[in-house]
Amino acid sequence: MTFFAPGRVNLIGEHTDYNLGFVLPIAIDLGCRATAEPLDSPRLEVHSVNRHEVRHWDLAALPDLVPSGDWTDYVLGVARLLPGLAPTRLTVESNVPTGSGLSSSAALEVSSALALGAAERGIDLARLCRRAENEFVGVPCGIMDQYASVAGVEGAALLIDCRSLEIRPVPLPSGLSILAVNSMVKHELGASAYSDRVRECNEAALSLGLSSLRDATAAQVESLDDPLIRRRARHIVAENQRVLDFAEASAAGDRQRLGRLFAESHLSMRDDYEISCPEIDFLVEAAGRAPGAAGSRMTGGGFGGCTVNLVQAGFEEAFEASVRQAYRDRFGIRCDVYRVRPSAGARQIDKKT
Ligand code: GLA
Repeated sequence: MTFFAPGRVNLIGEHTDYNLGFVLPIAIDLGCRATAEPLDSPRLEVHSVNRHEVRHWDLAALPDLVPSGDWTDYVLGVARLLPGLAPTRLTVESNVPTGSGLSSSAALEVSSALALGAAERGIDLARLCRRAENEFVGVPCGIMDQYASVAGVEGAALLIDCRSLEIRPVPLPSGLSILAVNSMVKHELGASAYSDRVRECNEAALSLGLSSLRDATAAQVESLDDPLIRRRARHIVAENQRVLDFAEASAAGDRQRLGRLFAESHLSMRDDYEISCPEIDFLVEAAGRAPGAAGSRMTGGGFGGCTVNLVQAGFEEAFEASVRQAYRDRFGIRCDVYRVRPSAGARQIDKKT
């Protein structure tokens, strides 16, 4: 059986998920396809088409495995959580660029879980895959990427309340295209900085006597003594509000407000949360000068990866050419640009037998 799970672009709401706040991602039309076939011997065999690699493990050894730090950790992290896993050959193939902030890992986890026969669906499937990433891969991520991959809706963004886990589809204004611009860089700092941010937010919540920053007010945040912890918390509280404002402005078709919210979100990530980098800041500035620009900010975990851009329909090519040229002139790097559309979530793509 073959399953497809999409990557995602987060429109707004960065690092708010593990603070039980709001996020607004779209599942995209890039993703990972995973096919499972039965095997005779009691093992799990995984074939990556992209990497031309085949790896295998005895099923009995799965509980004792330690992560190896490569792509197989995402598959094994999920496989270990599936009771009674049958001997399987799993073939995975993805067109989500890795390290780009478009959740190639969630797409791999979700498609693998489905192909390996996970019984979970919806939020339970997202939880299982997040658990694999938290416990085996070792990234203390929130629920956004896996949930967006599972629950994507064609033509709409997903307003997710990361505390209640309720999802509301939010229509996007017509006449705007969404372009992800890949900086093609991923700074090493990213992995450890992510854990640092999780810790700093927990520290802020604890100082305020709250269980998460979801309930913090702007006034409470400004009362925090430590300036670094105060800046981190300020980003989260303001970003949560921006998500709600963006959803409202989107439904109302207020493009100017959308652009302003993107700009504020980026500055907040750059200055208060400190998860941007020179390449990404440059791409955001270059987008502001490009034809058809309606808003630009970094998307995803940070320290490289992609910017997400709102572009007036009809200007996509001119926008892309302008940003590409500017980036090449400044950094000597050719950036990839993806025009993404809000797409459906994970699904079986061969005939049900
Ligand atoms: C990564 C994590 C998500 C989320 C984003 C930042 O993609 O996997 O859970 O925290 O970073 O918004």
